[in-house]
Amino acid sequence: MKSKVIGRAPINIALIKYWGKKDEIEVIPFQPSISLSLDVFESETTITKTKNDKFEFFLNGKENFEESQKIKKFLNYFSDDLNGVKVESKNTGPTAAGLASSASGFAALAITANRFFEKKFNLEKLATITRKGSGSAIRSLLPGCVKWNSDGSLSKLTWPFNDIRVGISIISDKKKQIGSTKAMATSVKTSKIYNDWINQSFIDAELFEFYKNKKDFSSLGELFEKNALLMHKVCELSNPKIQYLTSKSYELIRLIQNSRKKGIFEAFVTMDAGPNVKIITKEKNINTISELLISKGYNVLWSNIDTEGAKIIYESES
Ligand code: ADP
Ligand code: DP6
Repeated sequence: MKSKVIGRAPINIALIKYWGKKDEIEVIPFQPSISLSLDVFESETTITKTKNDKFEFFLNGKENFEESQKIKKFLNYFSDDLNGVKVESKNTGPTAAGLASSASGFAALAITANRFFEKKFNLEKLATITRKGSGSAIRSLLPGCVKWNSDGSLSKLTWPFNDIRVGISIISDKKKQIGSTKAMATSVKTSKIYNDWINQSFIDAELFEFYKNKKDFSSLGELFEKNALLMHKVCELSNPKIQYLTSKSYELIRLIQNSRKKGIFEAFVTMDAGPNVKIITKEKNINTISELLISKGYNVLWSNIDTEGAKIIYESES
C-alpha cells in the first residue's frame, strides 16, 4: 500500500447511448455505446493511509456517510482491508445532475485505487471493475473517442476531427429525481420500445464508425442526435414515465435544430439522464452559437476533447 495517491479522470459524453444492462451484476450493457471524453469537468481522487482504523469517504469536501458503503464495496475489488483508508474526491462539475460525475468519479477512483493498493491490474481488468461502479465510467478510463462494446469490453476508437467542440448548456445543476441505474432498469422492464431501441443501437454504433471514418460530420451529427432523442423516447415510454428533458431543454433542442435547418450553423445535440443539453459543432461556430444562446437566456460552456484519460498525478511511497 502506498501512503498517498492522487488520480484524475475526465467526464465523458455518450454520442451513442448506453441505456440498459443485460447483466446487472457484471454490468454488461444491452447495446454498444460510443463517447467522447471531455476536458471541461473532471474528478480528482486522493487516497491516503491514515493513523486511525476507520474508512472515510469525502465527496466535494464533505464526509459522505450515505455513499461510503458503495465506495467501500467498490474498493473491495482492490483490497479486503480498508481500515485506515481515506478517500477524498472532488468533481469540478455538478454532481448527480446528468453531467457524468459518476463516470469521472468511478474512473478516477479505480485508477487511484489500482496504484494505492499496488494491484497493477491491466486496463482490461481495471475496466471490468470500473464498470461495476458505474457503467459509463468504463469509457472515462480512456481519452478521445471510446467504445464500450456489448460484451462489456472497452475499445479506443480514432477521432479524425480536430475542430470539434462540445458546448454544455446547464439548464439545472440540481440532483436528478431518478438516478440512471434505477431509471434504465425500469426502461428495460417496461418501455414499450425497448427491443427496438436495442436493435437501433447496434445499427447506430456501426453507422457512427462508418461516418466517423469518412469524416462525414453532417451524417454523424444527424445520427447521434437521433440516437439521443430515441433514448429519451424510451424513457418517456417507460412505466412510470421517466422525464429527464424539461420544456426548457426541448426549447433549446428546437433552437439548435431550427438554426441548422435555416443554414445558420451546423450543430447537433445530445442529452443524458438530466435536463442539460450538449451541443456538438465545429470550432468556427462557437461564437455565433454562444451569442444566440445567451440572447435567449441560456448559458454555455465549451469543452475540448480530453487527450489524457484517467491517470495518476501524484504518489508517495509508504
Ligand atoms: P451523474 O449524472 O452526475 O453521473 P449519477 O446520479 O449517475 O449522476 O451519479 C451520481 C453518483 O455518482 C453520486 O451519488 C456518487 O455515488 C457517485 N459519484 C459522483 N462523483 C463521484 C466521485 N467523484 N467519486 C466517487 N463517486 C462519485
Ligand atoms: C444516459 O453509467 O450512470 O448517461 O451503469 O447504472 O451507473 P449505471 O448508469 P450510468 O448511465 C449512463 C447513461 C447515459 C448514457 C451513457 O452515458 O451512455
